[in-house]
Amino acid sequence: MVSPAGTPPRETDRGNEPRPDTTPAVLKFPDRFLWGVATAPTQVEGHVANEWTDFVARDGGTCRIACDSYHRYPEDIEWMTRLGVNACRMGIEWSRLQSSAYAPLNPLELARYCDLLDRLKAADIVPMVVLHHFSNPPWISSSGGWTNPATVPVFVDYATKLVTALRDRVRIWNTFNEPDTYASCTYLLGEFPPFYKWRLASFRSVIRHMAEAHGKICGVIRKSGSGLGPVEVGFSKNWTFFQTFHPASPWDHAIAAISHALFNRFVLHSFLGGNRKEPSTFLGLNYYGRVRFSHFRPLVPVGGLTREALARMGVICDDMFERHPTGMELAVGQLNRQYRLPLYVTEHGSASTDEAFRERDLKENLAALHRAIGGGAEVRGFFYWSLLDNFEWQFGYAKKFGLVAVDFKDEKLPRTMKALGQVYRQVCLENAIQSP
Ligand code: BGC
Repeated sequence: MVSPAGTPPRETDRGNEPRPDTTPAVLKFPDRFLWGVATAPTQVEGHVANEWTDFVARDGGTCRIACDSYHRYPEDIEWMTRLGVNACRMGIEWSRLQSSAYAPLNPLELARYCDLLDRLKAADIVPMVVLHHFSNPPWISSSGGWTNPATVPVFVDYATKLVTALRDRVRIWNTFNEPDTYASCTYLLGEFPPFYKWRLASFRSVIRHMAEAHGKICGVIRKSGSGLGPVEVGFSKNWTFFQTFHPASPWDHAIAAISHALFNRFVLHSFLGGNRKEPSTFLGLNYYGRVRFSHFRPLVPVGGLTREALARMGVICDDMFERHPTGMELAVGQLNRQYRLPLYVTEHGSASTDEAFRERDLKENLAALHRAIGGGAEVRGFFYWSLLDNFEWQFGYAKKFGLVAVDFKDEKLPRTMKALGQVYRQVCLENAIQSP
C-alpha cells in the first residue's frame, strides 16, 4: 500500500505492528463546493437543426431525438434533484436562437431556456451555461465555420444578446467546450462534420478564432454582470496526458510530444498565454485520463482495441480511454499553479456498463482531486459527465456515460437511476467521499 503522499507505509518503533493508516476515512470537500452534472444540447435535447442533424453515428444512431430533453427537461431536473446535485453544466444551442448573422434571438426558444433556468432555480440548482459545445447553425457551417474570421464577431454578437437576455438568470458562463477536441475532430481526424483530415492550418485558425471570441465574450460578460452576484467566466479545456507505452520508443515519444504540443500547449497558450488570460475568471478542466502510444498506435478502445486486450497489457480503460486517476491530481495542481485561476472540473465521467468499475473510477478520481485541493489548488466544483446516457457523437448511443439510464429502445425514453447515481448522490449530499 502507498500513502497519498507517495511514501510507503512505515512500521512503528514498538515492533512490527503496522502503523495505522492515517488517511482520513472521509475526504471532505470545501464548503460551498459545486457538485453537478453536465450535458450538451446536441447530445440530449433532440430536434436540433445543426451540422449533426443528418450525421449517422457508427452504431447507426442519430441525434434527431436523442434523450428528447427538449421536451423532457422538467423531468430531467427532477432527476437532478434525486441525484442531490447543487449545480448543472448545460448548453444553449445557438442554432435554435438565431436564424442568420446578427438576427434577433428567437423569442420562443429563448422563453424555453428561461423556463428551464427558472425551474433549475426553483430546484436550488446553480447553472453553468456553455455557449458552444461542438455545434453551429447551418449558416455558420456553410460559410466556413470557425475557419472564417467573420464567425468571431457574429458569435460575439449572439453571445452579447444572450448574456443580456439571461443576466438575471445566469452567473457562471462557460464560453467554449474543448476547442481542442472540436478543432482536431473537425479538421485533423475527420471524425466530426465537416470531416476534414490533416488540415493543420485550419485546426490552428479554429483555435485562434475561438480564443479571440472567448476574450471578447469574457469582456462582454464581465461588463454586463449578473443580477445573481459576481459573474464567473471561463472556457473548458480537455486535458489528456499523451505518453508512450514503451519508454524507449523514440517514435512514440515524438507522437506523444506532438499531440501534447498541439492539443494541450498550443490551445492553452492561445486562450490563456500572456495577457490573454486577463478576461477569464476561471479555467474549466475536462479530465478523463490518458492516451499511451505503442508503435504509433494509441492504446485505447476507441482506437479499435478491446478493453480485455488492453487490460492484459496493464492498460485499464473504460469503453473510451485509459483511466489515469493520479493524473487528475497532477493536471489540477499544475494548471492551477501555472495559470493562477480557480478551476472547475467541468467534466469527468466513465463509459461502461460495469457500474462497480465506474464507482471505483469515480472514487479514485475524486480522491485525487481531493489531494490536489489539499495541496493548495483552488477548485470550486465538479460536474459529472453525464446526467443521462446520451448521443456520444461519432459513437452514437453505444457509450453509457449516464448516472441515469435512458432506454433508447422504448420510444417513451424512460429514465432510471443507475447504481452510480446512488453513489454520486451520497457524495453530493455529504460533500465528501469515503476514502477508496
Ligand atoms: C465532450 C463530451 C463527450 C465526452 C465523452 C467530452 O470530450 O465534451 O461532449 O460526450 O467528452 O466523450
